[in-house]
Amino acid sequence: MAPPGPPLWLLAELTYRCPLHCAFCSNPVDYARHDAELDTAQWRDVFTQARALGAVQLGLSGGEPLLRKDLETLVGHAHGLGFYTNLITSGIGLTDARLAALRVAGLDHIQLSFQDSTRELNDFLSSTRTFDLKQRVARLIKAHGYPMVMNCVLHRHNLPHVGAIIEMALEMGAEYLELANTQYYGWAWENRQALMPTHEQLREAEAVVNAYRARIGNRCKILFVVPDYFEQRPKKCMNGWGTTFLGVAPDGVALPCHAARMLPGLDLPNVTTRSLREIWRDSDAFQRFRGTHWLPQPCRSCDSQAQDHGGCRCQAFLLTGDAAAMDPVCDRSGEHGKVMEIVLQGRLAEAQARTREHGMVFRSDGNSLRLSSEAGCAGRKSAK
Ligand code: FES
Repeated sequence: MAPPGPPLWLLAELTYRCPLHCAFCSNPVDYARHDAELDTAQWRDVFTQARALGAVQLGLSGGEPLLRKDLETLVGHAHGLGFYTNLITSGIGLTDARLAALRVAGLDHIQLSFQDSTRELNDFLSSTRTFDLKQRVARLIKAHGYPMVMNCVLHRHNLPHVGAIIEMALEMGAEYLELANTQYYGWAWENRQALMPTHEQLREAEAVVNAYRARIGNRCKILFVVPDYFEQRPKKCMNGWGTTFLGVAPDGVALPCHAARMLPGLDLPNVTTRSLREIWRDSDAFQRFRGTHWLPQPCRSCDSQAQDHGGCRCQAFLLTGDAAAMDPVCDRSGEHGKVMEIVLQGRLAEAQARTREHGMVFRSDGNSLRLSSEAGCAGRKSAK
């Protein structure tokens, strides 16, 4: 097989610590079992190695990356290497002084998350009182002259508010608005029945987005991605496994996708024991699903394989128990009925729920430890 191209996008998950408790957090469900963090020198070394491999974009994420006191030092190092740096934050801890220091260090871009356009739902979904603080942080980010992406994860509770969320982004001067419909991995998988929207909600929200796009043009670019469960063809997840994306977890585990930690039988390498070059080019974890040679039938004979590379490995595992299976989102899969069943169960759960909290599991250390011990170990649990 030809050697892979460079990992253009490096995602540094600096810490799993976070002041929020979102029910759709993308951190692994068993995050509380992994509390080790690389130190400053180790992260600097990761950045240096990644840049030498050809990485150009660096996402600084978490948890909440602002909980790292060395964030400015790390940004300064990455900037010096020539990375385009993006801070992915809840905004908690982003003070005027830190914004100024990050500016001096060379930070290029900030992505600020909101959970909703209303204080009440924003604070419910994150299990914190942070809406007003986030509003103040958004104003500070613009006062410091940063380009800003506002990010809002969508699901059945806030899809009816899409118009108000767009208005909020416009009022804050966001250049981009990422309306990220929930994908069902990690904590969102645990909460799939409590979060699953309906087809009607998605259709209505998309119509609102399209009307705004026509009206506002380039003033704010709006991204709206339909959740996989409502598609007939799978996506080329991570732009193809091991082609573009390289994640590094707080403890140095290297990830071909942000959710890969839950996949059984995948021996994920660690940056503290192997070079990034070796990990990217030669490790079994990064090679396992790279390209299309490994595809099962009928994907191997399908003329869409170059477009989707067989879909998402994590979704295949969660829905079938086999990470090497065809992604059941594809309606040519014999398991596609499982996707439709989960969508239907979501509708039934909504009809039966007496309160919004019903069936919702918020991210917390206690829930993390409980769920991961129920799953046997490492939080690996599929629907099979
Ligand atoms: Fe892991 Fe799609 S999220 S391959």
